[in-house]
Amino acid sequence: MDREAKFWSNIAQRYSQSKISDMETYEKKLEITRSYFHPDASILEIGCGTGSTALLHAPHVRQVRATDIAPGMIEIAREKAEAEGIKNISFEVATAEGVDVEDGSLDMVLALNLLHLVNDRDAVINRIHKMLKPGGVFISSTACLSGAWWLMRPLLAIGRMLGKVPMVKFFSRKAYLASLKAAGFTIEQDWLPQGVGKAYFVVAKKAG
Ligand SMILES: C[S@@+](CC[C@H](N)C(=O)[O-])C[C@H]1O[C@@H](n2cnc3c(N)ncnc32)[C@H](O)[C@@H]1O
Repeated sequence: MDREAKFWSNIAQRYSQSKISDMETYEKKLEITRSYFHPDASILEIGCGTGSTALLHAPHVRQVRATDIAPGMIEIAREKAEAEGIKNISFEVATAEGVDVEDGSLDMVLALNLLHLVNDRDAVINRIHKMLKPGGVFISSTACLSGAWWLMRPLLAIGRMLGKVPMVKFFSRKAYLASLKAAGFTIEQDWLPQGVGKAYFVVAKKAG
């Protein structure tokens, strides 16, 4: 198993039991996301973790496919779907870089708290753009760490050597928006919730 997959699998149980730190922000993001749903929508969430958000969205759309690099996360997600009796969702192990999706087939792709964790965000964003139907929507929540956060890099490097933290890429919100625009997206809305280290929420749209 890949090093990142192992890291995330090892913490999957703890992750599934951790509480959402800012419920108000989380709920606002759910609400904004749902404003782009329609009952016939087919959506993909990459880096879905233990599937909590995908499971909340599933009753509002036709089909949810949710993927994650870590088998440990997917195992828990499947158990939750089974326990909650949610049938229009499938969970599978796949990397954000390698997920196999037909071009132009999806209404929406979600990447929540993920794109700062991948090696090549531009490649992933380009691939997402291809997967979407014309007019499709890409919704992401990304830790855009720049400025003073760069001081954290040596600490994170040590933590990573010790296997205590995952790989984290550092880039600014401006660089993130530039990646989206370079892939062909237009920005529908963006929101940086108040508070230290909050993830940057962006709704991006493929031309219709
Ligand atoms: C911070 S968690 C976020 C989980 C979930 N999206 C959420 O918001 O609660 C990051 C997730 O991304 C997954 N992940 C990390 N690198 C990945 C990659 N290259 N491809 C797919 N998933 C990845 C991890 O296994 C983990 O479940």
